[in-house]
Amino acid sequence: MINSSSSNECSPSPKGDDFLLELADEVSKRRNFAIISHPDAGKTTLTEKLLLYGGAIQQAGAVKARGEQRKVTSDWMELEKQRGISITSTVLQFAYGNTTINLLDTPGHQDFSEDTYRTLAAADNAVMLEDAAKGLEPQTRKLFDVCRLRKIPIFTFINKMDRPGQDPLTLIDEIESELGLLTWPVNWPIGSGEQFRGVIERSSREVFLFSRAERGKQSIEKRLQLNSNELNGLVEEELLNKAIEEIDVLDEIGAGMDMDLVHSGDLTPVFFGSAMTNFGVKPFLDTFLDMAQGPVARSTNDGPISPINPNFSGFVFKLQANMDPRHRDRVAFVRVCSGRFEKDMTVRHARTGKSIRLSRPQKIFGQDRAVVENAYPGDVIGLNNPGMFSIGDTLYTGPRVEYEGIPCFSPEIFSWLRNPNPSAFKNFRKGVNELREEGAVQILYDTDQSKRDPILAAVGQLQLEVVQHRLENEYGVSTLLEPLGFQVARWVEDGWQVLEEIGRIFNCKTVQDPWSRPVLLFKNDWNLNQLKEDHPNLRLSAVAPVVSGVDPITL
Ligand code: G4P
Repeated sequence: MINSSSSNECSPSPKGDDFLLELADEVSKRRNFAIISHPDAGKTTLTEKLLLYGGAIQQAGAVKARGEQRKVTSDWMELEKQRGISITSTVLQFAYGNTTINLLDTPGHQDFSEDTYRTLAAADNAVMLEDAAKGLEPQTRKLFDVCRLRKIPIFTFINKMDRPGQDPLTLIDEIESELGLLTWPVNWPIGSGEQFRGVIERSSREVFLFSRAERGKQSIEKRLQLNSNELNGLVEEELLNKAIEEIDVLDEIGAGMDMDLVHSGDLTPVFFGSAMTNFGVKPFLDTFLDMAQGPVARSTNDGPISPINPNFSGFVFKLQANMDPRHRDRVAFVRVCSGRFEKDMTVRHARTGKSIRLSRPQKIFGQDRAVVENAYPGDVIGLNNPGMFSIGDTLYTGPRVEYEGIPCFSPEIFSWLRNPNPSAFKNFRKGVNELREEGAVQILYDTDQSKRDPILAAVGQLQLEVVQHRLENEYGVSTLLEPLGFQVARWVEDGWQVLEEIGRIFNCKTVQDPWSRPVLLFKNDWNLNQLKEDHPNLRLSAVAPVVSGVDPITL
């Protein structure tokens, strides 16, 4: 239910001491994180193991089965199933001991990195997953850069230790020298590949022995003290001594453990393990939950807001249409930042100033959903979106607040989207507008009003194919893509007036974004640099400036 109201204040219900204690307690129990990795590093496998510990799924393989059964709990789109890649992110909430964990699932494929960037805006911690044989890979580096920008604490899990991999010191050195992150290995491997025998936990000096199980079966973890006689005969002396020597080197020349540096995103605790054989996953989870930061204060136009502020606030970080094709629904995912979210509460929508009663909030777990009664900072709720929410929107009770927006990333691929069938225009328009709104793709328009076809602007080619596929399957419209030969987009910060003063720009196409702002498209960086040389005062931005308080133009 949506009402307009003139005051910016949205009166909260009175909150007593009991409420404040409950809020502080719930906040202290919450941990939220996203996994960043390159495709194939083992994110799905690790997610499955983590969910098993939380009892969120009952059996291994429920998240991802082999062969015909191959299906990912967090993957629900037809196209995703067909291609076996994870396109859109989902939130998986589960309890582990006393902790409520929110795992923000992110797509691994680089063509969908925009979605991942937005999800990272809602994350308090990130787990960087590496394949021990491959080390840092391109997509991991890209996502790491976003974590760095946001100063998100990063925990590194070096996976597939049961297979031949790179030397562990080389892997550590690569993180330090290429990402500029300090490292603190929490455990250290004994041997690798066929000779992988387990890990030594540095703080306790305990050995966690790895026993090779059949493919897909769980390895049994046995723990022994490093000085235990039982170790002789179980681990080759040479391998053990090498691991101990390497730990000595780390103790001498490596960084010390410093939780402040972990929380500022400058030092990454490193864990070695094997998700597939479930080796080292539980110790990782336990230590991670110990070290990870809880829900943090987040920046608003009025300074940071603490999660234990009694007034509810949160922001929309993701929109998704037609999650459930049977219901044709549209869902806005909101990260709760402060206070307690309550079903049926009335909140204020900061961008429009409207009051909204949130009557059907949902908790979404893969394909399943349930009505949420309450949610706390660090949690994510799904709201039915009748078309009023945009990415970055703030919802609040109490005094007006607005969280920092989430920028769109610079598109690199541009294509006309043609609708060859005029009688399908209504559906075409609906589909384009909804997919733009959920951020599946950015939309630009020609400055010539008579050319009303939209230009799709994407980070990766697959993103365009998904839009076409969804238009066909969800809106019943077949479309054609007609590529434009541009690769670089720049927003003109000072608007149309400046462009008029410059006059004609060669090797460049001027288009407009949905907020009628000028965008210049170039074939390459060389053409862009030429314009910058000719007009040094022209202010250009690679990402669309965040808009507030204005509705976009639609098709
Ligand atoms: P992703 O989501 O990051 O893309 O990776 P995913 O979990 O799908 O894992 C990619 C492949 O790596 C899978 O093999 C998976 O079984 C394997 N894998 C994951 N963790 C480990 C590990 O610790 N050790 C070893 N040896 N392999 C691991 P696949 O053959 O592509 O698929 P599947 O037939 O096993 O499902």
